[in-house]
Amino acid sequence: MKTQKIGKTELVTTRLAYGCMRLPDTWDPKAIDAAKRERARLAVLAAFEAGYTLFDHADIYCRGMCEQLFGDIVGDTPSLKRTPHLIATKCGIRFPDDPAGTPHRFDFSKQHILWSCDQSLKRLGIERIDIYQLHRPDILMNPPEIAEAFAILKKAGKVRYFGVSNFSPSFVSCLQSALPEALVVNQVEIHLGRLDCFVDGTLDQCIERGITPLSWSPLAGGWLGAGATVWDKHPRREHLLAIQKMVDEIAAKYGVSRTVMALAWLLKHPSKIVPIVGSANPANIKDAVKADDVELTREDWYRIYVAARGEKLP
Ligand SMILES: NC(=O)c1ccc[n+]([C@@H]2O[C@H](COP(=O)([O-])OP(=O)(O)OC[C@H]3O[C@@H](n4cnc5c(N)ncnc54)[C@H](OP(=O)(O)O)[C@@H]3O)[C@@H](O)[C@H]2O)c1
Repeated sequence: MKTQKIGKTELVTTRLAYGCMRLPDTWDPKAIDAAKRERARLAVLAAFEAGYTLFDHADIYCRGMCEQLFGDIVGDTPSLKRTPHLIATKCGIRFPDDPAGTPHRFDFSKQHILWSCDQSLKRLGIERIDIYQLHRPDILMNPPEIAEAFAILKKAGKVRYFGVSNFSPSFVSCLQSALPEALVVNQVEIHLGRLDCFVDGTLDQCIERGITPLSWSPLAGGWLGAGATVWDKHPRREHLLAIQKMVDEIAAKYGVSRTVMALAWLLKHPSKIVPIVGSANPANIKDAVKADDVELTREDWYRIYVAARGEKLP
């Protein structure tokens, strides 16, 4: 796979990242058994073998067990430990009843950021997180307070760079105004079923500021790979089928699978989107990297874009 820099840093990643959210195959830590551990181990091995170098986590995935599983797998496998790779994780979303009686909320308080980072480091079994992201905008966020927390983590050597996720351009600008260093990523939902970032200023801002956009759910959480019968009762069934049909048509022309074409379509954008592949199936993990070799023409990119819009261009 080709490589690229992340933001304006010295960090280099392959053009596709690997997302660890689905590794435990459950959101219930108690449901993780030996079979699920083995499934996760095979997925992580496949991702390293296929050449992915950036691994994305969040503290909330399976309530920390996703970070723990990955940390255990890499920690127990010397060849993986030795392979240079980058770890990204996130904080700032809090589950209800944690502690008891509290609501679901977002929390970018200094205390919560510092505490969360220590927990993630322990679970991942590492001393430093490469990219630490704020998961979803906390409406009560106070940029100078976040700046204080970031400065403490940076000084302690616990984090190399900071980023955000699901931030609108104005949230990015607001937070950035209080930070001494540039945010390096904005991880947002971009795929053929979710085109907002192309036109709402998110990707333009990434280009302008040199932020790397990470695309979460680049296959729309799986429906781009699924057969048509999956959504027989979906209200947008006809539109989803039309998108699949167009992607299939273009994919056949380039001799790749539909999902590879959907990823290649993201890679074409000049903001240098890094799609975070979320499969836990070794064959799909390996197939996805073919996207990096597709030289998609501007005309075919637009054919797919117009099908995804569901209406003609003005
Ligand atoms: N920042 C945020 O708010 C946020 C939110 C959600 C996710 N994320 C990040 O984004 C990552 C990716 O999200 P995602 O898992 O929803 O991504 P995705 O790649 O859109 O979806 C992955 C799903 O697609 C399925 N799939 C079906 N056919 C496939 C094929 N041919 N190739 C590959 N996958 C296929 C996979 O099943 P198989 O496993 O059977 O292949 C898997 O269930 C997560 O791991 C996480 O790191 C971030």
